[in-house]
Amino acid sequence: MSELQLRKVAIGVTGGIAAYKSIEVLRGLQRAGCEVRVAMTRHACEFVRPLTFRALSGAYVIVDDYSADNPDPIAHITFSQTIDLFVIAPATANTLAKLANGVADDFITSTYLACTAPILIEPAMNSVMWNHPATQRNVQKLRTDGVHIIEPDDGEMACGTIGPGRLSHPERIVSVALEILSRSREQVSPSGSSATQDLINERILITAGATREAIDPVRFISNRSSGKMGFALARAAVQRGAQVRIVAGITTAAPPSDVELIEAASAEDMRAAVFREIDEATIFIAAAAVADYRARHSSPTKIKKSDSDMILELERTPDILSEVARHRKNGQLLVGFAAETDNVTSNAQKKLSQKNLDMVVANDVSREGSGFDSDRNAVTILVRDNPLPIDVPLSPKLEVADRILDEVARLRRPAFSATSAESSKQ
Ligand code: PMT
Repeated sequence: MSELQLRKVAIGVTGGIAAYKSIEVLRGLQRAGCEVRVAMTRHACEFVRPLTFRALSGAYVIVDDYSADNPDPIAHITFSQTIDLFVIAPATANTLAKLANGVADDFITSTYLACTAPILIEPAMNSVMWNHPATQRNVQKLRTDGVHIIEPDDGEMACGTIGPGRLSHPERIVSVALEILSRSREQVSPSGSSATQDLINERILITAGATREAIDPVRFISNRSSGKMGFALARAAVQRGAQVRIVAGITTAAPPSDVELIEAASAEDMRAAVFREIDEATIFIAAAAVADYRARHSSPTKIKKSDSDMILELERTPDILSEVARHRKNGQLLVGFAAETDNVTSNAQKKLSQKNLDMVVANDVSREGSGFDSDRNAVTILVRDNPLPIDVPLSPKLEVADRILDEVARLRRPAFSATSAESSKQ
């Protein structure tokens, strides 16, 4: 019997030329043993008839839940509460905009709002529409909301344009859907939530964003950290049942609304905030990009320009993570990040042992589309006592966060906790 047998998947089909490819997605999921139901927007019905999906799925296809022949009077609730995954493919720019903004004016968008299962969206549209800042903003919002999004393929569109926007290959959509299903399979909590609850007894303190070290009231030293990685970790940890607190430096990303956040602009402020909170924490994750140097003398007034060069004397900021490690309580688990541009794994390995950590997440920050201020990241996770680095390919930061937390949860299981207490005595 397939591991995924009896998993219930809903496919939402919206109005684009790629709607016919959803048939392949449906068939692929069925071949993998999933029970599939389909919902369509009115415009999708211009491209494929509901009867096609009805014949293939063996179930009524909902287009309008107010329709007299709809057998279920509160379909968007029953539909959304009885599925393990909601796949929206293809998703038009219009549907993305509605989902990102909580507009629920048809069956698919209402189901999305009422859904507690993971959501996978595959956008498909003309390249200009895909690249439009409004669409990109909506995609980013949805990612921040925890939605899995498969980037559309590059290629020739039905309209003749060449560029990104083609629906990804149905096989790829099916394989990502199956991966999400298998990851969430053992993660259903007694409350019925589909998020894993393996961090339910943990209090996690996470640093995020950049610190800003003043040179004078208008100038400063900082870096490009947006806070996205730290916030993704916070979101993923909350979903897994942890109590989370964030100490945030300067950030440009939207923080999670349901997590307590303490602001700390400079390395010194961040250090003070961390040490106020650390005794409460069972796990500390240092995702912030703390400036390593600050001006030895920060001027209280604006330094005037002169014709000669300005020489700035710098000094090291406190190394917060190393200090936490020196004072760690028994059983506290410490995770650091390493932002590297060369010899990524070996430099990160040094940080793991020199800072006496349980885990280091190494990012190659020279890589395009990854690391600082990107929605995605590719990392290598190094875990103490495990000689094998774990490579996480370029993925949305929420997925990377979940992968990091998988390792955290693994280290917390009883077989590992004795070793953790041992290492904290060092
Ligand atoms: O915020 P985003 O835009 O999403 O970008 C994410 C990120 C690239 C900033 C993040 O993933 C990351 O790599 N954060 C750590 C960046 C960093 O400061 O690396 P580092 O190798 O210099 O520091 C090693 C570790 O020591 C880090 O955990 C850091 O938080 C900590 N540290 C560093 C210096 C210092 N004075 N105090 C510290 O605690």
